[in-house]
Amino acid sequence: MNKPEIIIAMDLPNKRAVDQLINQFPATESLYLKVGMELYYKEGPAIVTYLKSKGHRIFLDLKLHDIPNTVKSAMRSIASLGVDLTNIHAAGGKKMMEAAVEGLMEGSPDGKRPLIIAVTQLTSTSTEIMNQEQGIPGEVADSALNYAKLAKAAGLDGVVCSVHEAMKIHNVCGDDFIALTPGIRLAGDDANDQVRVATPAVAKVEGSNYIVVGRSVTQAESPYEAYRRVQADLD
Ligand code: C5P
Repeated sequence: MNKPEIIIAMDLPNKRAVDQLINQFPATESLYLKVGMELYYKEGPAIVTYLKSKGHRIFLDLKLHDIPNTVKSAMRSIASLGVDLTNIHAAGGKKMMEAAVEGLMEGSPDGKRPLIIAVTQLTSTSTEIMNQEQGIPGEVADSALNYAKLAKAAGLDGVVCSVHEAMKIHNVCGDDFIALTPGIRLAGDDANDQVRVATPAVAKVEGSNYIVVGRSVTQAESPYEAYRRVQADLD
């Protein structure tokens, strides 16, 4: 069975808080870190360069959603930062997703573009919210699958989805198509604002390729110990 990679969500206010957190990990440990909106909008591209220089891989989670031309240009800039993985909202449509891939290619002169995945439905969205607020009928899983097919047709590498949708997405879009799953909680942890949560072990069984773990690690009394518990759960 495929073992998912662990990505730690650096949902932290600034570089100082990031240093405080990663200094609790062994210096030799190469991590996969998610830089999201909070940190990026505070520290800018320098935070990516800094973390890369420490040997960590970066998932830049800015969830772009705009007209195709704007997204293409933004992706050109993102590629030049040397991130490993980035994302957009599938709701922006096929043309926007195709433009994103083109932008990444143009920003990667060595031909090795970052991986790009699409957000389907946020893991904080329930079927009720989707039906009532977005006006999309049916189950969240159906909408996620629809967006996954669209993302694949647009040439993306995968999607962000909940653990509970990963298997179905693999069945339809293929085993190579990435299912990256947030909403991960260790047994006994608080779900917080997430609606569709699962443990690392369940994520593995359901075919997740990358699990994003935020508060279960970053808010733990000992983040490294919590990270080891996530690893142990996967084993
Ligand atoms: O703290 P927690 O583990 O809930 O953090 C999950 C992370 O994954 C957050 O940074 C959140 O923005 C991100 N995310 C998500 N659901 C998505 C896409 C990204 O929770 N569909």
